Amino acid sequence: MTANDIRSSYISFFQNHGHAVIPSAPLVPENDPTTLFNSAGMQPLIPYLLGQAHPLGKRLVNSQKSFRSQDIEEVGDNRHQTFFEMLGNWSLGDYFKKEQLPWVFEFFTKYLGLDPKHLFVTVFEGNDTVPKDEESIAIWKELFSSEGIDAKIGERIFTYPARKNWWSRSGEPDHMALGEPGGPDSEVFYDFGEELHLHEHSPWAQEPCHPNCDCGRFLEIGNSVFMQYKKTENGSLVELPQKNVDFGGGLERLNAAVNNIRDVFQTDSFSSIVHELEETARTEYGTDAKSTRAMRIIADHMRASVMMIADGVLPSNKTQGYVLRRLIRRALLYGRDLGVWGNWEYLGGLVAPVARMYADVYPTVQKQQDMIEDVVKDEAKRFGKSVEKGLREIEKLPAVDGKQAFILYETYGFPWELTEEIARGRGQDVNRHQFEEEFKKHQELSRTAAA
Ligand code: SER
Repeated sequence: MTANDIRSSYISFFQNHGHAVIPSAPLVPENDPTTLFNSAGMQPLIPYLLGQAHPLGKRLVNSQKSFRSQDIEEVGDNRHQTFFEMLGNWSLGDYFKKEQLPWVFEFFTKYLGLDPKHLFVTVFEGNDTVPKDEESIAIWKELFSSEGIDAKIGERIFTYPARKNWWSRSGEPDHMALGEPGGPDSEVFYDFGEELHLHEHSPWAQEPCHPNCDCGRFLEIGNSVFMQYKKTENGSLVELPQKNVDFGGGLERLNAAVNNIRDVFQTDSFSSIVHELEETARTEYGTDAKSTRAMRIIADHMRASVMMIADGVLPSNKTQGYVLRRLIRRALLYGRDLGVWGNWEYLGGLVAPVARMYADVYPTVQKQQDMIEDVVKDEAKRFGKSVEKGLREIEKLPAVDGKQAFILYETYGFPWELTEEIARGRGQDVNRHQFEEEFKKHQELSRTAAA
């Protein structure tokens, strides 16, 4: 199945269960100044989760364009992305656990054809105010049993505290803002095989593996949030007037699971961009760890940049434009690891594969392809010149300390890794702590300036 097949199959499955299809909101929220980007399908729906009536009813489904800037530095492994599509279905005070979990299971196993033996689930273990989610445990047991699987706790069903199995935009209950909705959740993970945990170079091999282990064996492919609480003024949680379901599943990750490909960058959600990169760099994807990481970062960042520009963001020094600038710059810099350094315009060539990939679902990308290419090439050229100047500055310094690393970051757009790498090449270390301190000071200043 392709990404397009998975998206349309999901939408029609939930349409057949009485859900109205809502379009994806743009990446930049329309009426929510508290955040730069939509990072989950629920975000544009907050008023309705809190009780306002939605014009299309109580059951909704869509695929939402999402961007998580907090994941920029994580990109480079087999699964992290900044831009992704989130398949979502919502019950606004209508159905709840006993419909949601069986639908998720049915969709995953019967429509996507995932082998139930590869599925593992997690539920909330309870705390002082919200009890353990016994109802979800009972439902999961029955669902697995219908497939001949005895789903034992700690083997197939895992319970975790709020840090892992509670969802709100701000995380666990203590971090929730006044009036914010949230609730316990139940996640589904796909198992790519025990050998990912146990292989001879695995740093995890001596520890027990479980769905939230970082070894790469388990990939989270869906999260049903039972959004039934709201934070009150005295810091406690109260039940919302309605019990909601907020489900989100990353399309690219589902694509990896469905095709049993351990690397999202090898699915058709990325392959056309990666292929273009292979041609430009004359390097096959997967040749070595360094070039593979660089290709993942460039592919992710350029896909995200194209989608942002198509939604009206332009490079600048603040807010969304600054994030876009950072993406294009990082993408360009990682070209060093592919031997395409100095070619400031090749990133423009990565726009077409993204536009082609989304021609049917987001046709505005292809319509704006020429403009997007111009924006990317222009930004790349300007940064290329600036970076050359920065490199000359570094050459003048006998050694780079953390403060200077920050100045290079601020003035010439040098990410930490680049400065560190150049310094290492000269047999020197840069004080990361000092750099981070400067960074924090700057963030505080920008926060105050933005307030
Ligand atoms: N809002 C939840 C998440 O982002 C489920 O969609 O994981």
